[in-house]
Amino acid sequence: NRRVTVRDLGAAKERGERWPMLTAYDAMTASVFDEAGIPVMLVGDSMGNCHLGYETTVPVTLDEMTMLTAAVVRGSKRALIVADLPFGTYQEGPVQALRSATRLVKEAGAGAVKLEGGERSGHQIELMVQSGIPVMAHVGLTPQSVHAMGYRVQGRGEEAAQQLLRDAKSVQDAGAFAVVLEAVPAELAAEVTRSLHVPTIGIGAGAQTDAQVLVWTDMAGMTAGRVPSFVKQYAQLRETLGDAAKAFAQDVVAGAFPEEHHSFA
Ligand code: KIV
Ligand code: NA
Repeated sequence: NRRVTVRDLGAAKERGERWPMLTAYDAMTASVFDEAGIPVMLVGDSMGNCHLGYETTVPVTLDEMTMLTAAVVRGSKRALIVADLPFGTYQEGPVQALRSATRLVKEAGAGAVKLEGGERSGHQIELMVQSGIPVMAHVGLTPQSVHAMGYRVQGRGEEAAQQLLRDAKSVQDAGAFAVVLEAVPAELAAEVTRSLHVPTIGIGAGAQTDAQVLVWTDMAGMTAGRVPSFVKQYAQLRETLGDAAKAFAQDVVAGAFPEEHHSFA
């Protein structure tokens, strides 16, 4: 009856076992995924797009991340809860990163934090890990840098591939317990996965990573409009929920709801 730990995930890599990760942004959804046996939930700053209605992840604040992380922790019993460090809450340096991460762990109850960047984030990772906070790294496409890099596949070409390998190794050396690889050619992601002793978590990174993560609203068909080509949709929740809302509206207009058994005598 304890939560999954970062050590459990390292042991899974040694046994060659793959595992799933999903994002979650609220207690109700977290309880659904927890009951479904999802071992790791990421309170991703994708909440900016999915949950808070921003255009990008850039505006997400530490207050927002703290509030939604606390909700996901309350809604779950078993999963390891990883909270993203929002843009601007760790780039200034290790001390700022530690202060932000401490809030997510202490106030919201996160079991680990995630930050973007390879070599550039090494000092931040070191100090947080030394201070007892497990850190997940994130390399390849890093959406907080959208204004500099756009949204495109990373690590294409020999030079970029070597840099990505260096980035992945350096976050491992800094003490990260796992590394997200986002939008990376499958072959390169496979090479990174073989080169590291910590687990890799792919999103748009092919089938050879140790784990896979998807944004839950994409995975469940809740997102409006197109989803990225690397997403598989396992349900069409947007349609289901919209149909429920329309049926309720029709019943109310027609006087068909409430019925007698929905009413107090
Ligand atoms: O914020 C997020 O959802 C993420 C995942 C896509 C890895 O960082
Ligand atoms: Na993120």
